[in-house]
Amino acid sequence: MDGRELVRSMKVVGSVRGLRAVRSAWRQRRTDARELAPRGPERARVPGPVTGAEPLPGGGTVRFARAELHVCVMVGGAVFWGWDGAEPLPSYALADVPPEPDPRAGLEPDKDGGWRVVSERVTVAVSRNGGVEVRTPGGVVLRRELPPRWWEPVAGGPARWVQRTEVSADARFFGLGGRGSGPRLRDGTYRLWNTDPGGGFGPGDDPLYVTMPVQLVVADAGTHLAFHDNSWDGRVTLREGEEGAGSGHDRPGTSELRMDGGPLRCWVVTGTPARVLHSWTALSGAPVPPPSWALGPQHARWGFGSAREVRRVVAGYRERGLPLSALHLDIDHYDAHQVFTVDRERFPDLPGLAEELRADGIRLVSIVDPAVKAERGNAVYESGRAVGPAGAFVRDGRGREVLGVVWPGECVYPDFTDPAVRDWWGGLYEERLAQGFAGVWHDMNEPVSFAPFGDTTLPRSARHQLEGRGGDHREAHNVYGLTMARAGYEGLRRLRPDERPFLFSRSGWAGMQRYGGTWSGDVSTGWPGLRASLSLVLGLGLCGVPYSGPDVGGFDGSPTPELFLRWFQLGAYLPLFRTHAAIDAGRREPWEFGPEVLEHARAALSGRERLRPYFMTLAQLARLTGAPYVRPVWWGAPEDRALRDCEDEFLLGDALLVAPVLERGTDRRAVRLPRGRWYDTATEKAYEGPGQVLLDAPRSRIPVLARAGAVIPVRGEDGRPELEAWAPAAGRAGGGLVVRDPGDGPREAEVERYTSRLMNGEVRVERVTDEGAVEPEWPVRVRGR
Ligand code: GLC
Repeated sequence: MDGRELVRSMKVVGSVRGLRAVRSAWRQRRTDARELAPRGPERARVPGPVTGAEPLPGGGTVRFARAELHVCVMVGGAVFWGWDGAEPLPSYALADVPPEPDPRAGLEPDKDGGWRVVSERVTVAVSRNGGVEVRTPGGVVLRRELPPRWWEPVAGGPARWVQRTEVSADARFFGLGGRGSGPRLRDGTYRLWNTDPGGGFGPGDDPLYVTMPVQLVVADAGTHLAFHDNSWDGRVTLREGEEGAGSGHDRPGTSELRMDGGPLRCWVVTGTPARVLHSWTALSGAPVPPPSWALGPQHARWGFGSAREVRRVVAGYRERGLPLSALHLDIDHYDAHQVFTVDRERFPDLPGLAEELRADGIRLVSIVDPAVKAERGNAVYESGRAVGPAGAFVRDGRGREVLGVVWPGECVYPDFTDPAVRDWWGGLYEERLAQGFAGVWHDMNEPVSFAPFGDTTLPRSARHQLEGRGGDHREAHNVYGLTMARAGYEGLRRLRPDERPFLFSRSGWAGMQRYGGTWSGDVSTGWPGLRASLSLVLGLGLCGVPYSGPDVGGFDGSPTPELFLRWFQLGAYLPLFRTHAAIDAGRREPWEFGPEVLEHARAALSGRERLRPYFMTLAQLARLTGAPYVRPVWWGAPEDRALRDCEDEFLLGDALLVAPVLERGTDRRAVRLPRGRWYDTATEKAYEGPGQVLLDAPRSRIPVLARAGAVIPVRGEDGRPELEAWAPAAGRAGGGLVVRDPGDGPREAEVERYTSRLMNGEVRVERVTDEGAVEPEWPVRVRGR
């Protein structure tokens, strides 16, 4: 038991739930000891020398003495390779069917006895001992995978493997899911095992709720994303390279991936950051846009406790004229913490409350936890047991339901890797809709079972259906949240075909954007937590998951007024803008921090409301192109090394640069600008990039800059849409895209393109249509002149 575990066990023991948790942790240990054979002696294997090759469409198979590699370039330029028969399918990450092999690409002999596939966008070279290089068409190496190594248990069972990779000395690593310490991933080891850190986490806590073997690498030679499609437990050890290290030679950056089992297969997509995300979301699925109301300000709390308190809080917003789009009910509105129930004493008429709020433009969102109280007579439990021949819940090797401990006490866990279970579970959302909820918030789906020691999840030996293939929790764990999201999303679509579901989930994996977004989880209250919030959103966006945001103000304790305000000001520019806190934490309503904070929070809220059409545009563009709303400042200029290392500001779409205050007592901050002219949106003063400027960041606002020439859809003071056009620099043109809300139904959105230029000293904005340039329909407000 290490120190952290000791603290954990002291927190847990002492309550009834605690005693159950102790029992459950012992049970888990026993089950795994009984059902998972010790690994015993292992045989190491490397591919050995090349023995032959066979061309196939898009690439071919290269044979080695002790292994076989299938490599293929797909239409669109994505590269796939898999060892020992690993193919793209089956996969939890991929959307539908993978792309077709590129018929123009094929395997050809390379120098030194190796083989290569040359395609328009990328060249893949396989060395004679099983190394794989991905090169640009110009021949520059983006990624070099050394020959892998496997360890196979002599007595049979899953092989562990390691894959070492080299990237250029200047490269920077990003991604791996939601990491508190990023966005630039420093040297260290990052685990691939979705984990509830158990209480408030800070930048040093790893892993967190969403891990994924998705790595985005930015280097002078180009950007690429590598995805090792394998959901098993693993570890990635990163080490940035060094230019002119020992005797003037570069030391490459390295990444070492060690997996406990599962296939060794990899996708690589290359190009500009925008192209890379486009290709990646073409593979792993388009990010679904939330309904438009979910782009507005939202408020949650664990422990509103009653309809009365909900009304009091909502009245607080209304009386102060503060906009509120959604209010979230946590587990305290359940009957005894049981999912799909309502405490009717404290919420006697939830549908009525929902309707009342709806009349004020406020939607209700419900938490949904996966664990179901294991109690005869509990309707959800009973209906789950009736699913299929074996029931809906995860079982152990002897066929008994696996019990864990969560909020309601002893619980069972739906096996979302079973299509019939997803179907059943999705149907249960009918109850939530009937209660008046407009969206769902999936929680505790790593999944969590409280435990004073050991892993706070299901036993690794627990059995899962895995779409009929069968397997255990070692493979299913990381996709538990993802498959739960699928169940919820598909259920909501079936129940309300005319609405875009609103779903966000604490845990997930590659591809989760197909079903919804995520949030920070229990980010700890404090300045480091504020920084971790931004790192999570940026990192997730680069993994294809663009909709997320933190618990504004932090999950635990009480932020100082200053910290709350700075968090709020940041949150107002993030896709999910939601205040939330724990049951024993201080308040998070903006008026609880004194009149000064209230006034500045009001400004942040109205700034957000003003940008709603822009957020809608970004949500739709994320769906169409994979580009996250929140992007690192190097997005458009990855070759700018100073930008690559800049982690405390971000681009919101193409048009805005946001520089939040992440430190105490700050009223000015350095802001690094990409190339071009930028206007401070508060003062309209122009600055020229690239370079760094010092800008005022008084309590009332954080620095936000607009790119010269940008055309941004905003909500005008009268509530009607208008275009905000920032004057282009002399001799330059600009523009912007606008996607109007196609409504919450399935109607496709239309992308409108605008241009801006200076004509006789005037800023002219036009809409580009198939019939030529036309006057914009919306009024244009020129700024920066
Ligand atoms: C978890 C969630 C948190 C929620 C709490 C109670 O800690 O991360 O957001 O409030 O559970 O449901």
